Parts: sequence; C-alpha cells; structure tokens
Amino acid sequence: MLLETLMSLFSLCWSARNNDYNSRRTSATDPNSCEAAAAFEKEGLLWYRDIGKYGSGEFSMAVLQANQVLEDQCQIESGQFGTFLGVYDGHGGPEAARFVCDNLFRHFQAISAQHNGVVTAEIIERAFQETEREFTALVSELWDTRPHVATAGSCCLVGVIFQQTLFVANLGDSRVVLGKKVGDTEGIAAIQLSTEHNANVAAVREELKELHPDDPQIVVLKHGVWRVKGIIQVSRAIGDVYLKHAQFNREPLIAKFRLPEPMNMPILSATPSIVTHPLHPNDSFLILASDGLWEHLSNEQAVDIVHSHPRAGSAKRLIKAALQEAARKREMRYSDLCKIDKKVRRHFHDDITVIVLFLNHELISRGTVQSPPLSLRSALEH
Ligand SMILES: *[C@@H]1O[C@H](CO)[C@@H](O)[C@H](O)[C@H]1NC(C)=O
Repeated sequence: MLLETLMSLFSLCWSARNNDYNSRRTSATDPNSCEAAAAFEKEGLLWYRDIGKYGSGEFSMAVLQANQVLEDQCQIESGQFGTFLGVYDGHGGPEAARFVCDNLFRHFQAISAQHNGVVTAEIIERAFQETEREFTALVSELWDTRPHVATAGSCCLVGVIFQQTLFVANLGDSRVVLGKKVGDTEGIAAIQLSTEHNANVAAVREELKELHPDDPQIVVLKHGVWRVKGIIQVSRAIGDVYLKHAQFNREPLIAKFRLPEPMNMPILSATPSIVTHPLHPNDSFLILASDGLWEHLSNEQAVDIVHSHPRAGSAKRLIKAALQEAARKREMRYSDLCKIDKKVRRHFHDDITVIVLFLNHELISRGTVQSPPLSLRSALEH
C-alpha cells in the first residue's frame, strides 16, 4: 500500500499509475482517459468545466494556477451513495494536497461501507484520521531522502450530500457558502456553512492560547499577519507533521521550520470542524472555494454573481471576478495581470479552486440520484 502511495505521489506522469485506479480518474492531461477531452477545457493557467451533471443536479468547476507547481486540488465524486466534494489547498509544496485528493475519498467509502453505506459526521472524521495517519507514515518513510515532505500540508474542505443532509467538514481556511432563497422576491442570502481555522480569526487565536497556556509564542503577529508559532497561518491541516510530532522537528529540516524549544504536544490538529445541514428546498446552490477566492470576494459578492448569471460558467466567472479585484488592488489592468506567468502570479493571487453545486430538490426530496456516476479530479499538469 505504502509503495503504491509513494509511487503515485512522485510519479511525474499521472497516467503511469495502476490501471484500475487510473481508469476511474479523469484529468485534462491524462491521455488514457476517454473522458479527458470532455472533463476540462484550458485557457492559459485556468482549467474549467462550464457545466456538468452530478447525482443531485448540476455543477460548474474551475481551477486557476498561480504557483510554479499547482498546490490546489479538488474532486467531485457522485454515485448511488450520494455526492462527495473536496477542495484541498496545499502549502509547502503539492504533496499533501495530492495525497488527500488520492486517498481521502477512498477511506470515506471504505469506512462508510463498514456501516452499510450510512454517512455520519463520525465516519467523515475517521476518514480524515486515516488519511492523516497514512500521510504521516509516508513522511516517516521518506524522512531520509525527502525530509521536506514533513513541511507539506493541506487545508481540506469536504462536502457530502447523503439523502437529504449536507455534511461539511473543514480543516484550514477554505470556505463553503450557501446561496439560499429568502422572502417573496428574487432575493438570495449568502450563508457560510464552514468554520475556518486561520490565526487571523480571533476565536482561533483564543483556542490556540487555551490549548497551549504555557506558550506565549503560540501565535505571533508578523508583518500584520497572525501566524501559529510565527510560521503558519492555519491551525488545522492534513500533514505539516513537523508541527505535530517531535521526531519530524529536527535536522535535516531547514532551520526556519525547526522550533527552538521541545514540542511536548501537537501544535496543529487534523480534526475537522463538522457541520450537519438538513437541506431545505430553498437551498439553491453551494460555492466551495479555496482561500484564494475569498481573499478577493466576499460571500455576498460570490453568491450574487452566481445568482444573477446563467449557471454554465459560474465557477470560471467567480475566478475572473476575483482576478479583476486582484488587478484593481494593484492598480493594473485585468488583461495585464492575465499575461503574467505562473510563479510570478503568486505575488498577485494564490491558486484558486471553485466548485459551484446547484441543488435539484426534486431529486433530493425523492431520494433519487441521477446517473451516470461521476468521478472528476483535478490532477492537472504541474
Ligand atoms: C423560501 O422561498 C420562498 C420563495 O422565495 C419564500 O417565500 C419563503 O419565505 C422561503 N422560505 C424560507 C424558510 O426561507
């Protein structure tokens, strides 16, 4: 198992994976996939799928690269079991986000199968735990040859639709916002369903101080940004094992990642905040996106953009709106921003992933899931 994981993590060519697994993947650059051409279109650093069908309605999806190596990953899985969505915003390299994209859903399915296909918050939490455990084992395996993988981590935002319930599990600072019809008019409200774990949120700093009462340096304000131990903005993630286990916080890690004092307990956590939301017929759509989008758009702006335009192209439209805002902040033209290549782009915005999910309540209330099954993952070129 570990060897397979290792190979998949570091193979340069995604299509060289084991065939059974690969046949269920679709990606823009996977020549073995017959769905590849239909899966994503590409426009410069942007990959998008304007509109597609999943079990309970339609979706729109887009990913924009800013980093030299894309650190965001995402997936939609849909079938008789329901729908599983993931947005994984990696940091310190792409390894953890790719690992989560390749393994979290598999754990979720296996654990749910042990419970006759039921989905509960506890089952989702266990899938996160298994993924964290396996990634930690991988870091341990790689410690002699690739110690830097100990500093790779990933925010994880997962949405699961099971029967008439939406579960939202979150680690880090991605966000899901619900567009909900209100009042008698065309009005729509933006309701955030996820809890964020970023040290810039006062409640998160309080939580960290309570957990680490003897550590005055647990959160540090640096250049106007709050960071856990002065190093990292998020307080929960998969990976970042150098801030969880003392055996990974030593040489050969580079000095800026090594803590000066001994680590007696984990500083970061991989336990997700989980919200259970019974779906209401007025729940119109969900926007799941990495922090790269929310840095430039408010919840209300995003919901208004989706609500006031055709469904097709919604995800791409949100990314373009965020880019226009990023350009405006720098007093530059949008068209000039678009000419800047990856890596340098990172100075203007982060990788951005957006999934918009439109909810069809006729299907949801009847308890039916439309075919065919869908498995779409963003293992894009890198
Ligand atoms: C649902 O939407 C309808 C029509 O927009 C509105 O009249 C009603 O108040 C909404 N119900 C709730 C619970 O928001």
